[in-house]
Order: sequence, then C-alpha cells, then structure tokens
Amino acid sequence: MNKVLVLHGPNLNLLGTRQPEVYGHQTLEDINNDLYQAAAVGGWEISCRQSNHEGELIDLIQAARLDGTAAIIINPAAYTHTSVAILDALNAFDGKVIEVHLSNVHQRESFRHHSYVSLRADGVIAGLGSQGYRAALKAVMAE
Ligand code: DQA
Repeated sequence: MNKVLVLHGPNLNLLGTRQPEVYGHQTLEDINNDLYQAAAVGGWEISCRQSNHEGELIDLIQAARLDGTAAIIINPAAYTHTSVAILDALNAFDGKVIEVHLSNVHQRESFRHHSYVSLRADGVIAGLGSQGYRAALKAVMAE
C-alpha cells in the first residue's frame, strides 16, 4: 500500500487555541482525522506526527527513507525559517515532499518569507488554512 507521512512542527499541537485569527479554529486532531479519512478513501496508508523538537522531526524523516514512505507532507512551522538540518534530512529522502503552511507566510513578517524547506519541496501550499493539508494529500495521491 502507498504510504504518506504528515509531519507537523513546533507549536502546532496548540492549534485551535493558538492565535486562531491566524491559524484557524481547527485542532490538530481535527486536521489529522480529516486526513486519515481522506487517505483511507484513496487507499493510502497515512501516519500523522507532531513534534516540538527538531531532532525528532529529523528522526521521523530518516525513518521514512527506510519504511517505503512515498511522500512527506510537512508543516515545519518555525523550523521552516531556521532549519538547515531539516532541509538536509529531506534532501536525503527520495520521495515527494510537499510543504504546507496554514497562514500565508508571505503576507507576514519578513523573517517568515524565507523557507529552507522550499529548496527541497516539490510543492508549497500556504494560506489555505487546514484545507492546504487536504490539497497536499490530494496531490500526493494523484501520483
Ligand atoms: C506556519 C508559519 C510559520 O511561520 C510559523 O512559525 C508556524 C506555522 C503556518 O502553518 O502558517 O508555526 O508554518
């Protein structure tokens, strides 16, 4: 079965209560449940993981190299703008990579305009809220 890994970076565990005017009212559980359902309909195996720790995200990306994962959908959150280490881990992954941001990062502070992960991502979705994850999954499953 085709397999996709969804990775959520730091502070995304607070979705629903964290700046809802920026990130929306849906919780991470709501988003993940929606993705689990859509993946099941499409006949894909999906794993959704969140971590506040850069190293743990890297470990999960490295594990995906070895377990047949075909694609990674990642919202690296603040690590988007800082982490060469996450970029390096994604560069060592051969499958598809889609970068997702709930907010339109280009409309926000200038430090959010640069993404290390975009140097590797096959596609980038920003500003569609939780629908961005759904769009990313649809693109992955269309392959
Ligand atoms: C974010 C945007 C980042 O700049 C921010 O640090 C986040 C979330 C988004 O989904 O809009 O934590 O990745």
